[in-house]
Amino acid sequence: MRQQIAAGNWKMNLSFEEGQSLLKALQSSERPKDVLTILGVPSPYLKALHDDCSDDNLCIAAQNIHHEKKGAFTGEMSVGMVKSVGVNYVIIGHSERREYQKESNEMLKTKVALALEHGLRPIFCCGESLDIRKSGAQNQYVSNQLTESLFHLEGTEFSKLIIAYEPIWAIGTGETASPEQAQEMHKALRSHIAGHYGQVVADGISILYGGSVKPGNAKELFGQADVDGGLVGGASLKADDFRQIIHSF
Ligand code: PGA
Repeated sequence: MRQQIAAGNWKMNLSFEEGQSLLKALQSSERPKDVLTILGVPSPYLKALHDDCSDDNLCIAAQNIHHEKKGAFTGEMSVGMVKSVGVNYVIIGHSERREYQKESNEMLKTKVALALEHGLRPIFCCGESLDIRKSGAQNQYVSNQLTESLFHLEGTEFSKLIIAYEPIWAIGTGETASPEQAQEMHKALRSHIAGHYGQVVADGISILYGGSVKPGNAKELFGQADVDGGLVGGASLKADDFRQIIHSF
């Protein structure tokens, strides 16, 4: 069975104290043992919050790493830095970074390779804009994001990834892909992966849905055959909401 994952992405929200309280609230509540919870937290909180995590199934993730290993890149954070504070997960290729930092498929290829080389598990984000969805080219577009950034990897390396399908038109908009739309894309991505790596690898990889996941829609989304959990922005900032989402499998 594939790993079920509820991942939160705090983005540039919450003070350190608020983050600590949220983590505490999640830790102190009963969580299903077989659901892996990952929290993508702001860089200055990485070490402290990672050190506060005592459960195997609750982990901290960085929201980004730089595509160079080290050097004169003021304000940036390297993969080695993230690893050196004990963190084992990193979100790579979020659509906000693709848009505002102009991260290309080619650059993300480098970041994914660097992360894996350093023993970090990437949560690789992909997804189409509204224009692409309207044109009907979404499956081709998102499959191509995987091909260009990931398909250089060996199967054993690729298997360490978590994929997050996040249609841009559903992020932070309150508009969610319908369960059928999510399932259709997840199934298409899994078969694209099977075409390159074989069915065993494709069947083993967790594909999360992201884009306005809330307590009210998580169960139906996670109930789809090829949806293995969610990457959650806004609703991961409130302990009660995120707790309900963690219980939606
Ligand atoms: P949202 O964000 O849940 O607020 O739509 C999801 C994401 O950007 O990962």
